[in-house]
Amino acid sequence: MLSIPCVQDIDVAQTTVLFRVDLNVPIVDNQIENDFRLRSITKTLDYLIAQKATVILVTHMGDPKKNNAPSTRVLLTWFYKNGYSVVFAPDLDSAHALCANTPPGIIMLENIRLFAGEQNNDPLFAQRLADLADCYVSDAFGAMHRTDSSLVTTPTLFARGRKAAGFLVQAEIKQLDALKHPEKPLTLVLGGAKPATKIPLIKEFLNKADYILLCPALVFSFLAARHQQVGRSLIDRRASTACNDILKQAEQSSTKVVMPIDYLVSDILFKPPFRIVDAQKIGDQDFGLAIGPQTMRKYAFLLKQSKTIFLNGIMGDLAYKESLDQTHSVLNAMISSGAKTVVAGGDSVGALYTFNLQDKIGYVSTGGGAALAYLAGQELPGLLALLS
Ligand code: 3PG
Repeated sequence: MLSIPCVQDIDVAQTTVLFRVDLNVPIVDNQIENDFRLRSITKTLDYLIAQKATVILVTHMGDPKKNNAPSTRVLLTWFYKNGYSVVFAPDLDSAHALCANTPPGIIMLENIRLFAGEQNNDPLFAQRLADLADCYVSDAFGAMHRTDSSLVTTPTLFARGRKAAGFLVQAEIKQLDALKHPEKPLTLVLGGAKPATKIPLIKEFLNKADYILLCPALVFSFLAARHQQVGRSLIDRRASTACNDILKQAEQSSTKVVMPIDYLVSDILFKPPFRIVDAQKIGDQDFGLAIGPQTMRKYAFLLKQSKTIFLNGIMGDLAYKESLDQTHSVLNAMISSGAKTVVAGGDSVGALYTFNLQDKIGYVSTGGGAALAYLAGQELPGLLALLS
């Protein structure tokens, strides 16, 4: 394990702390669908408050490029309900003014991805953010595989002894380190969106995992790369070379990359009626939602053979509970396998809570892509930035 500086080892008393967190929580109808990521940062938040620090909460939510980046105002009610008094800063000028004039407390900055300098890692923006605070603390484990300004450049502007990992990051690293030498067979169940993040990481698990069970929506990028019909299912065409490389390399490796033999599809995304189609027979207008029953049986059989199972990415959408049945079945198959189980990522954890299965999983990680990258042995830029 890297020797990362920890929040309890730096002096944050009565300082202003830029607290980078990952509160990228599922939002459905303007409501928080699952508050696991919020509850996960409270140990550090309570510690900072007890140290009489002024805390500037900085998080991203969603992705402005996909037109789904909500304001962090949507999170405020959760803080009020849980006894935290928080003031909202819509921009950096207001945040600077609040820091200068407000007694210690919590300031919630607007969604950091709504600021132009964040995702293009603008050094001036990083500096202006850093100027807000004396110390930088990160519990943004779920985003540490990203290279956004507030994650990788802002922390480098704080001297050693002025930046540290919060309790959540410390716990995540400890738990995931314990999984770096998993009991075999090791099976990865990978689905959901964000193919561009996940596909390059799959390569890292060839010869490490025994089985990689591909699920919708991720699997459709692989089908499209092989010129198979995927209808209107979610795909990333830019990943096509990487997908073909993985499938080719898998043939020479000890890892079996397994694809579904049938699918559940709909005419309108996530809306019933759902139909079962053979993997070769996805229609032009079909949206692929989940694996079909034959695939479910095959995957359940492989999960039963496994001693360690890691799941990231759900089939379906948390906003449409009726689309989550296959995700529910996979989670149940993981639990009944008796294997050591890990579920990682915002929506995946959301699905666990939907079915009240969270206490039956060995380890629940706030990070999806970040957990996958860390387990694959990659350096997390957000973690390295704390060491600089
Ligand atoms: C996540 O939910 O996986 C993290 O918050 C990272 O989000 P991103 O994939 O939009 O960068």
